[in-house]
Amino acid sequence: MGQMISFLRKCFGRQKQQQDLDEEQDPYENDQRNLELLRDNTVESSSSFCLHQNVISTCIDIVEDSASACGLGTVGNRQETPERWIKHYCSSQKMLLVGEGDFSFSACLALAFGSATNMIATSLDSRGFLFRNYKKAMSNIHDLRSRGCTILHGVDVAEMANHCSLMGIQFDRIIYNFPHAGFCSDEPAESQKRRHQLLISLFFENAKKMINEEDGEIHVTHKSNGFFLGWNLQLLASRAGLKLIQELPFNFTDYPGYRTKYGFGGDKNFNCHPSKTYKFALFRPSPTPTPTPTLP
Ligand SMILES: C[S@@+](CC[C@H](N)C(=O)[O-])C[C@H]1O[C@@H](n2cnc3c(N)ncnc32)[C@H](O)[C@@H]1O
Repeated sequence: MGQMISFLRKCFGRQKQQQDLDEEQDPYENDQRNLELLRDNTVESSSSFCLHQNVISTCIDIVEDSASACGLGTVGNRQETPERWIKHYCSSQKMLLVGEGDFSFSACLALAFGSATNMIATSLDSRGFLFRNYKKAMSNIHDLRSRGCTILHGVDVAEMANHCSLMGIQFDRIIYNFPHAGFCSDEPAESQKRRHQLLISLFFENAKKMINEEDGEIHVTHKSNGFFLGWNLQLLASRAGLKLIQELPFNFTDYPGYRTKYGFGGDKNFNCHPSKTYKFALFRPSPTPTPTPTLP
């Protein structure tokens, strides 16, 4: 499993050294005080896990709003303002967005809600990568922060349940738009498919531990034709103990400002038609019927 995760990373070409380099080139200053707070918090709350090198690099890559990330208790505080909706999403839902590209999807939700204190928006990519590749990433992140969203970088969906800043939070919605494990040149289609499937399976395994058991949902938006259909999200979800509760056509124009990014360098948008949003929830076997008592 560890080998496969590092293979996925290799395909994305994002080694830790690159992330360190990104930090050096980061045009924004790191907030050292917040970073130290985060480290302290990490050591105190989960020392054994955070000795893992990947997690340390993940923590180091958190360059935004890490003070609030440390005390994520503020996320999702029920607001006194009336609920606001955009499509399936509501300002009162505690939300985790993962695998963001230029953060335009999160920014769109935040704008619709007016406030984003209910949201944690994350990317695998470092801030330096985002800065270099996406023209609008920094302004989207700035908007999100100004609305109270917590931003984390270096969050790997394959191990996010153990992320030092996410542990212990139960989300109402976890959203991953267009999961993709990257391109490796000359790779046979079948092996590509297996890599994408592994990424999604690991995402499901993690996300299911992080959703509210009662009515939490995991949403994956995914192309619904050709090669992509063969990934068989529903089967992957059922293996992870999740059931498909709804699949709805996805139209990016429902999310003003959202731009779909390939995620491998470059600012081009990809054609996301046709696509669907697949909603999953924890599979709970129906309780075994209790036998009706018979009168003596
Ligand atoms: C096709 S892009 C979609 C980006 C964005 N969600 C959007 O809709 O524009 C796939 C994204 O998945 C992210 N990704 C790949 N592997 C990941 C992982 N293990 N953990 C988190 N994100 C990952 C990449 O960084 C990339 O941004």
